[in-house]
Amino acid sequence: MTKKRGIDLLRDRKHSKSTAFTKEERRKLGIQGLLPYAVSTQDLQMKRILANMERKQNNVEKHIFLSALEDRNERVFYRLLIEHIETLLPIVYTPTVGQVCKEFSAIFRKEKGFFISPDDKGDIQNMFSCWPEEDIRVIVVTDGERILGLGDLGANGMGIPIGKLALYVAGAGIHPEQCLPVMLDVGTNNKDLLEDDIYVGYPHPRIAGDEYLELVDEFIQAVQVKYPRALIQFEDFLTPNAYKILHKYKDKVLCFNDDIQGTAAVALAGIYSSARITGRDLKDSRIMFLGAGAAATGIADLLLTALMKEGLTSDKAHDLISFVDIDGLLVEGRRNLMSHNIHYARQGKEMDFIEAIKTIKPHIIIGASGAKGTFTKEVIELMSELNERPVMFALSNPTSKSECTAEEAYTFSDGKVIFASGSPFDPVEYKGKTFVTGQSNNAYIFPGIGLAATICGAKRIEDEFFLIAAKVLSEQVKEEDIKQGKLYPSLNELRNISIEIAMAIIVKAMELDIAREYVPKELREYIEEYMFDPVY
Ligand code: NAI
Repeated sequence: MTKKRGIDLLRDRKHSKSTAFTKEERRKLGIQGLLPYAVSTQDLQMKRILANMERKQNNVEKHIFLSALEDRNERVFYRLLIEHIETLLPIVYTPTVGQVCKEFSAIFRKEKGFFISPDDKGDIQNMFSCWPEEDIRVIVVTDGERILGLGDLGANGMGIPIGKLALYVAGAGIHPEQCLPVMLDVGTNNKDLLEDDIYVGYPHPRIAGDEYLELVDEFIQAVQVKYPRALIQFEDFLTPNAYKILHKYKDKVLCFNDDIQGTAAVALAGIYSSARITGRDLKDSRIMFLGAGAAATGIADLLLTALMKEGLTSDKAHDLISFVDIDGLLVEGRRNLMSHNIHYARQGKEMDFIEAIKTIKPHIIIGASGAKGTFTKEVIELMSELNERPVMFALSNPTSKSECTAEEAYTFSDGKVIFASGSPFDPVEYKGKTFVTGQSNNAYIFPGIGLAATICGAKRIEDEFFLIAAKVLSEQVKEEDIKQGKLYPSLNELRNISIEIAMAIIVKAMELDIAREYVPKELREYIEEYMFDPVY
């Protein structure tokens, strides 16, 4: 409800219904004459918007168009996103958001989100009073240093928190005013940006070391004071920083890292689903990773937890997991091992990817390398010789960084591969069969995690929550999807998936006694009652 009237009401994105205000409302609210004659329904408004969007030349233009719609009429924007999530997610989020971030300074139109720079040191808590909302429940924060597979985009990375929070609203019904996108603009080491006079960010090299960690800490402490109920989601930090920050805060404040933990849960769900096709249990599967950064090691860490829950010892579980990075197989004593992946180094000699596949004979390969084309014809053919149904995930985003395309995967494997990708691919026709690729998209997981935390007032996010989310997500995949080789449910089911994940996590949070809120037994009704409904 709002007290606004007249033009102020029409300019209020939260409350404006624009042409859907009835004649009587127009009289009462002082907006007579400010709108054309016809009274639209919300459905008609959506139809008009979708038709207009189709006239845009490319997906970046469509993204800008939808962003402008959100600024004018939030409810139409979110209803569209909810009802057309499968088609609109690639425009609002990946892969389009990658290009949007690259062009962020050039296409900047209107303030969105909260920017913090080193100049703000000592003042962050005060600055939060400039933000117009008080009851913040979900914060997505990045420092822009590893945006998707695109590298350091500095303050241009703000497109990521904005996009992710739109998915929290559409996918889990978190209220828009309870969401806060944050850019920790600590500078950039991207020379092109530093030399670009229209770059909107802090135009200096990145601050590093203690100076950097102190600013991150000040931000996190300020959130604890100003928004003590808020979940902080770390997004697209450079891997060493991502791990450092996660380990420092995960047991102390309500937070998680989506690239490490969210990715892990969605990939594990895909692995569970693939077992329904191969018939091979997780504990009998050899899994190789291409890439040993935050995404890959995050998945492996969760896999270890899952394997050990199935009764394997830590050593046995480690035996099933191998890593190949830019320098080849991770083996003990090799150079360039990092603290987050060193415990995955195997005994034996150094070797390249192909040799590692021939030696270890993986059943499953997961690519999170950010390196386009690394699943070569030779790799896919080799996996198909070794396995009746090889499982291969090309998780790197955006599409231009994918380890292979869906077409390559199905063609080179002669239709044998069980394939999932990070970016969306169109269905592939091969030898008279249609193969539909499931998208291993974190959007299946994080909205449900945020919804659970919001509803039960969780004190922290436990690793086990991601295991639960993975299981629940894979249970949502229907038999007909599995028959088509699709390892994930339709994104159109996202709201229901988020509710299912949230319910299971809330039950666990109560069991662990880390829920601050009383939650009634009729959990589903209670959650649905909370969720943001954009219908007028
Ligand atoms: P990162 O930069 O921490 O790690 C990249 C890893 O790949 C490093 O270990 C590097 O040595 C390795 N690598 C690079 N080039 C290689 C090559 N040619 N051959 C073998 N290994 C190579 O990055 P992070 O955070 O782990 O992300 C990696 C990719 O995963 C990105 O493209 C990101 O967009 C994607 N990702 C996908 C998600 C999803 O689909 N759900 C979620 C999170 C990340």
